[in-house]
Amino acid sequence: MRVWILLLVLAWLADSSMTQHINSLTWLTYLRNRAYNNGYGHHYANLALPNTEEPSVIDCPLECDCPSAYPKAMYCSNRKLQHIPFVPSHVKYVYLQNNQLTGITNGVFDNAPNITWIIIHANKLSSDKFGDKVLAKLPNLQRLFVQHNNLTRVPQGLPRSLRDLHMNHNNISVVPVDSFRGMNNLTALYLQMNAIEDLGKALEGLVSLTVLDLRGNRLKKIPESLPARLSQLYLEYNHIASIPADFLSQRPELRYIRLSHNQLTNGGIPASAFNVSTLVELDLSFNKLERIPIISTSLENLYLQANKIKEFSVNSFCRVVDTKNYSNLRVLRLEANEISARDIPNEAVLCLRLATNIDL
Ligand SMILES: *[C@@H]1O[C@H](CO)[C@@H](O)[C@H](O)[C@H]1NC(C)=O
Ligand SMILES: *[C@@H]1O[C@H](CO)[C@@H](O)[C@H](O)[C@H]1NC(C)=O
Ligand SMILES: *[C@@H]1O[C@H](CO)[C@@H](O)[C@H](O)[C@H]1NC(C)=O
Ligand SMILES: *[C@@H]1O[C@H](CO)[C@@H](O)[C@H](O)[C@H]1NC(C)=O
Ligand SMILES: *[C@@H]1O[C@H](CO)[C@@H](O)[C@H](O)[C@H]1NC(C)=O
Ligand SMILES: *[C@@H]1O[C@H](CO)[C@@H](O)[C@H](O)[C@H]1NC(C)=O
Repeated sequence: MRVWILLLVLAWLADSSMTQHINSLTWLTYLRNRAYNNGYGHHYANLALPNTEEPSVIDCPLECDCPSAYPKAMYCSNRKLQHIPFVPSHVKYVYLQNNQLTGITNGVFDNAPNITWIIIHANKLSSDKFGDKVLAKLPNLQRLFVQHNNLTRVPQGLPRSLRDLHMNHNNISVVPVDSFRGMNNLTALYLQMNAIEDLGKALEGLVSLTVLDLRGNRLKKIPESLPARLSQLYLEYNHIASIPADFLSQRPELRYIRLSHNQLTNGGIPASAFNVSTLVELDLSFNKLERIPIISTSLENLYLQANKIKEFSVNSFCRVVDTKNYSNLRVLRLEANEISARDIPNEAVLCLRLATNIDL
């Protein structure tokens, strides 16, 4: 590959007339694609083409690779790029991760309105150099990966067509309330490891959202207006001290909730907060609980390690204990609390008859 890049540079230096320049670049791009195919050993057909035949050239910027096996992709990752190369109009998948990009100027993607994925994580993008119109003109953008950058706010003008949005590991503290408005198809939103204190009603109306990751932020409460179809909610490593009473009853699809490493006390958990039959897994480890909260008999995994729990209350798991009424709990973790195996009453065996793993 290096040889071809060298040839391209030589061609560039050697050419004086513009027309010749373009011709030789086209020819070299053809050679380069041929070398690429050859290198990957799949398509020897091009080599056998008679010289008179028009080569099928893929338009591609010099900094990037556009293998003919993936004609709509443009691979520009790991190249120390400081500027986004020109994007040919046919491109749908743009890979720009692991470069030194500091901004995205308005217009850089205008030539390719059908872009579907922009993968641009692990750069140095900052919010003040992120054009507010640059993504709004991409009505087909479905996947945007901007994690591990240096953003301080959610970019403006994100297209409503997004399905999968990764903005984790930035320094985002500003989330304008209309950031995600109209994103009816958004199913996964990754905002972990940022500096968000409050989301206000920014999540309202995300009717398709099923995964929300907010680990490692500065939230003091559970976000308002959580989408109704959410099934996985990750809130570890925040400063949450209490749970709203109706938080779960209005979210019938929530299956997994992780709230470890927060500031929860029993006073902040209403009696029926987790007593909903849809929940499968609940992680309340590394908080300040002194009692086991009331959970539904449907729950399968409960993590309570590293709290201050002093008693093993069977009625937290089973309101009635008989042959037909028992808990579905499989895994119960209680280690690093203030109880030991001696504190487990006999009727716990009947109630927790399905438990295969109780850690104390
Ligand atoms: C974008 O996609 C549409 C529909 O597939 C197509 O008609 C159009 O030519 C494409 N535009 C470009 C610039 O490739
Ligand atoms: C991130 O942005 C801040 C300003 O907000 C700047 O001081 C810092 O150098 C940037 N870091 C990187 C790695 O670009
Ligand atoms: C959501 O997806 C559907 C089906 O693919 C599509 O018709 C619709 O235009 C999308 N909505 C937006 C806002 O892009
Ligand atoms: C994060 O952003 C804040 C401003 O919102 C800034 O003061 C701070 O230095 C930034 N932190 C890093 C690590 O860039
Ligand atoms: C928990 O839910 C069950 C079933 O809906 C109900 O019978 C019970 O009274 C509830 N317990 C509490 C403490 O809310
Ligand atoms: C006990 O089990 C019976 C039979 O499955 C059921 O009808 C009843 O609602 C259960 N009671 C409680 C409190 O779960």
